[in-house]
Amino acid sequence: MQEILKQYESVNEADVKNWFEVGNVSDFPENSGACIKYKSKQIAVYNFTRTAKWYACQNLCPHKMEMVLSLGMIGDKGGIPKVACPMHKKNFSLEDGSNLAGEDLKIATYPVKIKNGIVYIGFSD
Ligand code: FES
Repeated sequence: MQEILKQYESVNEADVKNWFEVGNVSDFPENSGACIKYKSKQIAVYNFTRTAKWYACQNLCPHKMEMVLSLGMIGDKGGIPKVACPMHKKNFSLEDGSNLAGEDLKIATYPVKIKNGIVYIGFSD
């Protein structure tokens, strides 16, 4: 299972090598998540309409290695956009992937870009 986790590493916008097209804006639910596949990775994508921002992170929850984060409730904690894992409700920042309770669990996050109504996620591989 650790092998699966290893393929997920956060990507900064400056390091993007491939803006991968994942669909039209209208393909994604508002204020909740969806899951896309890139190579062997499952990536959760969230459309926050209140702030008009999009976020992407690994779909794999590092707590019990469940592919579930795209099904989690999204919201914010003190202004930080976050997702709560649907299994045991651990909360992760969608900005830097940190666990918001300070636990030693982290998720990879990826930049999202919208251009002409198309959603792209940035990868470095
Ligand atoms: S599997 Fe995600 S919080 Fe436990």
